[in-house]
Amino acid sequence: MTPQHKSFHGSQDLGTSTIHSHLVPAHGGELIDLYVNAERGAELKAGSKKFPSWDLTSRQICDLELLLNGGFSPLCGFMTRAEYESVCHNMRLTTGFLWPIPVVLDVSEAFAKSLKRETSKIVLRDGEGVMLAVLHVEDVWQPDHKSEAEAVFRTNSTLHPGVNYLLNKANPWYVGGRIEGLESPSNYDFKSLRLTPAELREEFAQRGWRRVVAFQTRNPMHRAHVEMTIRAAKQVEASLLIHPAVGMTNAGPGKDADGKSFYEPYEAQELFKKYEAEIGVTMVPFHNMVYVEDKDTYLPENEVPKQARVLSISGTELRRRLNEGRDLPGWFTYPDVAEELRRSFPPRHKQGLTVFFSGLSGSGKSTIANVLLIKFHEIGGRPVTLFDGDLVRKHLSSELGFSKEHRDLNIRRIGYVASEITKNRGIAICAPIAPYDATRKEVRSMIEPLGGFLMVHLSTPIEVCEQRDRKGLYAKARAGIIKEFTGVSDPYEEPKDAEVVINTAELSPEEAAQEIILHLEREGFIGESR
Ligand code: PPS
Repeated sequence: MTPQHKSFHGSQDLGTSTIHSHLVPAHGGELIDLYVNAERGAELKAGSKKFPSWDLTSRQICDLELLLNGGFSPLCGFMTRAEYESVCHNMRLTTGFLWPIPVVLDVSEAFAKSLKRETSKIVLRDGEGVMLAVLHVEDVWQPDHKSEAEAVFRTNSTLHPGVNYLLNKANPWYVGGRIEGLESPSNYDFKSLRLTPAELREEFAQRGWRRVVAFQTRNPMHRAHVEMTIRAAKQVEASLLIHPAVGMTNAGPGKDADGKSFYEPYEAQELFKKYEAEIGVTMVPFHNMVYVEDKDTYLPENEVPKQARVLSISGTELRRRLNEGRDLPGWFTYPDVAEELRRSFPPRHKQGLTVFFSGLSGSGKSTIANVLLIKFHEIGGRPVTLFDGDLVRKHLSSELGFSKEHRDLNIRRIGYVASEITKNRGIAICAPIAPYDATRKEVRSMIEPLGGFLMVHLSTPIEVCEQRDRKGLYAKARAGIIKEFTGVSDPYEEPKDAEVVINTAELSPEEAAQEIILHLEREGFIGESR
């Protein structure tokens, strides 16, 4: 669920409100505020030493924030089992109020099982351990995520981001119950824009706004959006609230495995229409705005004269232009928006990047990585760090052995540091064995959203590696002196998703490094050719 998902939207029906009589009431009738006073806070803190603690994920913190400040009114906590079932099957709370999607606290099996019968309260903490809220445990249960996906999203395809989250990322148990809030989750960005529902209502009252059109978006607004929202506001004689979704956001669900959209184009609008009287919020439908070149103006798609030349830039095209460092035309967006976008999304040759080697001991990882390091230094422009398998084990993972758990932990550590470097626009070269596919994929998914990620599989056959045996390790492994040795007495899962595959029985280290450089140039991660 995105934060601010459920706060105030525009309204034409002017309902009565408990706070400001000219505003529509909160969903369910009353704007909820779950924060306790200082006295109760101190009491809870004092008692909390004995309560079990759950460290919230960033997604759970988003939900908690909206529960506490009333963005999720009339909810007073994470859903109990009855509430959850009712929402899944009837799209309503047990009280009958409309509610589209479960708001649940998912926890690990180990945590759920550690809760005793007599456990009545759990402390909810942020990532740093700050006590944000106390949950009064009413239900602990193991949901059926597949049925939940079917009920809520009408599909169990993991290509749908909501389903993918449920089936592959969410914890397997739910804990439900009322919440008391001690502290609001800390946000340090856009403080002046982060209004709670109560603050927003206050702002409307002060400005004398009775009718408000809200535009909710997770993207920057270009000329088309501005034209569209202003038109919508004029059409219904309303004031305009720009309501950006921040924190964790999702793109639309996209298409299923057969290339079919998960939902029909107007399904969301139709669903909304069905319930608008009940929720007291009216939809202002609008058509896509396109730029009409001859008229140098934006018009709704359905008002464009026949034969007129129209221009538009899709999200994919916009990303392509930014990645390639191309211009954004003046008819499309404003100069300052274009500049900000170029600053935040530099072209690929200025983005960070991880080159991740995987291959057997003796396959040539360190040698090629070192040649590559020099090549990157020569190209210049970005700081480069090499994480060599042996060096990482000396400095970062000195306490680890070679069991599956320890190898995975080692690779996750390397992945984490590489992701930080990539985020900060440097180059990380990682050269571990990384024998397990799932862990390599985990690292890829951690880094890809932050910059470039290139998996290089060194496919040098084990016979060749063993023949080289530069460190004498294969001989020791064969003799049973070294246990769990990759390729000899421990598994190596060949990557099927490597961007570059190199067999060093056939290429010199210089040639191998050049292959990698050429690949990066083709993908735009290195600027000029050399
Ligand atoms: S892993 O699996 O990715 O965590 O391994 P990595 O951190 O790259 O460490 C591999 C280096 O450790 C030495 N070594 C072993 N390798 C594999 N299996 C066993 N049991 C083992 N014991 C020690 C070996 O020198 C590896 O270095 P490379 O550069 O690969 O030869």
